[in-house]
Amino acid sequence: MAVNVVPGSPAFYSDPMRFPAFVLDQAGDEISATVTELSDDELPPGEVLIRVEWSAINFKDALASRPGNRVARRFPLVPGVELTGSVEESTHPSWAPGQRVLVQGYDLGVAHHGGFAGYARVPAEWVVPLPDDLPCRTASIIGLAGFTALVSLRRLVHHGTSPGDGPILVTGATGGVGSAAVALLAHAGFEVVASTGKASEHAYLTQLGASRVVGRQFTAADGRTLGPELWGGVVDCVGGSALAEALRTVRYGGAVVASGLTGGHELATTVYPFIVRGVALLGIDTVATPIAARRMLWHDMANEFPLLHCEDMVDTEIGLADVTSALARAMDAAVRGRILVAPWR
Ligand SMILES: NC(=O)c1ccc[n+]([C@@H]2O[C@H](COP(=O)([O-])OP(=O)(O)OC[C@H]3O[C@@H](n4cnc5c(N)ncnc54)[C@H](OP(=O)(O)O)[C@@H]3O)[C@@H](O)[C@H]2O)c1
Repeated sequence: MAVNVVPGSPAFYSDPMRFPAFVLDQAGDEISATVTELSDDELPPGEVLIRVEWSAINFKDALASRPGNRVARRFPLVPGVELTGSVEESTHPSWAPGQRVLVQGYDLGVAHHGGFAGYARVPAEWVVPLPDDLPCRTASIIGLAGFTALVSLRRLVHHGTSPGDGPILVTGATGGVGSAAVALLAHAGFEVVASTGKASEHAYLTQLGASRVVGRQFTAADGRTLGPELWGGVVDCVGGSALAEALRTVRYGGAVVASGLTGGHELATTVYPFIVRGVALLGIDTVATPIAARRMLWHDMANEFPLLHCEDMVDTEIGLADVTSALARAMDAAVRGRILVAPWR
């Protein structure tokens, strides 16, 4: 990926209608990344103009920057599938200048300019008000990853899973979704077993609340169709062989919540977990979560998320000039927790 950094003077950015932006563009099979300046007339339509305070790197942003990907649906594109900030202008009666808000999902950062820019303009029905006790920075540390973890926890509980059913396995545990899931589940009273490929991060996971840390290969390869019933439930954001292993080792009647594909999008399993053990495979999609449900979940977030762990989950804070290298780290599974992006830095 070619990178062309065009530095702008601080005086230039003092005009509120011009702002720094990280832009992906496509020429033939190549995708290039440029840090440049945009003006508000280059933003897509929408009722609410937001001054972006924080965004964060997600695995999906890394996918959107790869040649041949099917994630980015327009070029040029400002990626960034989530943002927090304050309303600058609004033509919608629900939103007023100065309100602190969050946007994530829908077309943001894939078919509509996203969070890796100083400003974003979005439809009013994408906007979530931030609770008074949740600063923008804290909300961005939790972010889409924490939202996915909270939805995963709710799905497990709705299924009937309780702490008495045994430990909950979290795969991809040092990633954004994984870290948030470990912290949330432990805070909710579950025993958590964290699966990670990073041998150096066991102390981090224990600090977030894991009672035990295992490798990515968390079962013995015994060649049997069904393995031992090890888990009361599973939160999986890795997919591939991790998801297949989770299905054959979750308890009778247990649920596996699947949200991701960092370990692969294919699933090689059998029907036996379902027809012999009554296992449930519960899928998570946070992109199209209806806005009323999204606002309700974020309203609950400040109470349910163990905020004391937020700072532990910050891998690094970067400006737009470092987004390209951060996307490469996400692609290589080399991130611990969350990389925050400050577009005005
Ligand atoms: N369905 C939804 O609505 C939704 C929402 C948000 C995210 N997601 C998806 O959830 C997944 C995780 O997102 P994220 O933001 O948490 O990503 P992330 O921060 O990049 O973390 C992903 C983690 O997956 C693990 N991993 C990476 N490659 C692996 C491999 N080959 N085998 C096994 N584990 C591997 C690593 O954890 P360890 O090193 O600790 O093993 C890595 O840190 C992504 O696929 C993302 O697209 C889905």
